[in-house]
Amino acid sequence: MTTIEVVLGDITCQQVDAIVTAANESLLGGGGVDGAVHRAAGPQLAQAGAAIAPCDPGDAKATPAFDLNPPVRNVIHTVGPVWEGGGYGEADVLAACYRRSLQVADELQARSVAFPAIATGVYGFPPDDAARIAVNTIRSTPTTVQRILLVAFEEQTRDLLTALLQEESDSHGGVARQ
Ligand code: APR
Repeated sequence: MTTIEVVLGDITCQQVDAIVTAANESLLGGGGVDGAVHRAAGPQLAQAGAAIAPCDPGDAKATPAFDLNPPVRNVIHTVGPVWEGGGYGEADVLAACYRRSLQVADELQARSVAFPAIATGVYGFPPDDAARIAVNTIRSTPTTVQRILLVAFEEQTRDLLTALLQEESDSHGGVARQ
């Protein structure tokens, strides 16, 4: 059984086996959540990223977590779509980010994973649509991960995600799935 929880805060402070970062194709680090993850993991993260780059939009690749605090063991780097109005397959690419990140988490045998709101910052994906895609994709992807944290950095994102999970639990009779 997999549980999905929403938390407000910094993804680098979560007690999980793996954290997902919203990277760019170079995997060398950037601003936003990726900047925070690279600062917390230290310079070895960019070196490890460079060794497995590039990462296509919608794909995900793992590295060790280096200086991130235990229990975090791995960083899963995924590359969201740059929002160009919605007519260029952005929704499919965003769904693929969540799906592929969970597949990689399964390969790592991670029991708990934290996700940021991929593509909703610099890449400009509308937050309400992104939240719905995140919840729907996670719910429809088979995984051995037991605990999924959706980490919101803004209260608006937290409220959107919480409302979506509530909608789901109203219609399915519980927040946990499977
Ligand atoms: N913890 C959790 N979420 C965070 C944090 C943090 N420490 N810092 C920022 N966020 C949130 C943002 O508020 C936003 O809701 O992460 C979400 C994603 O925003 P971005 O980090 O800008 O990611 P994205 O829109 O996917 O753009 C990716 O930005 O930094 C570059 O290398 C990155 O080029 C890539 C692009």
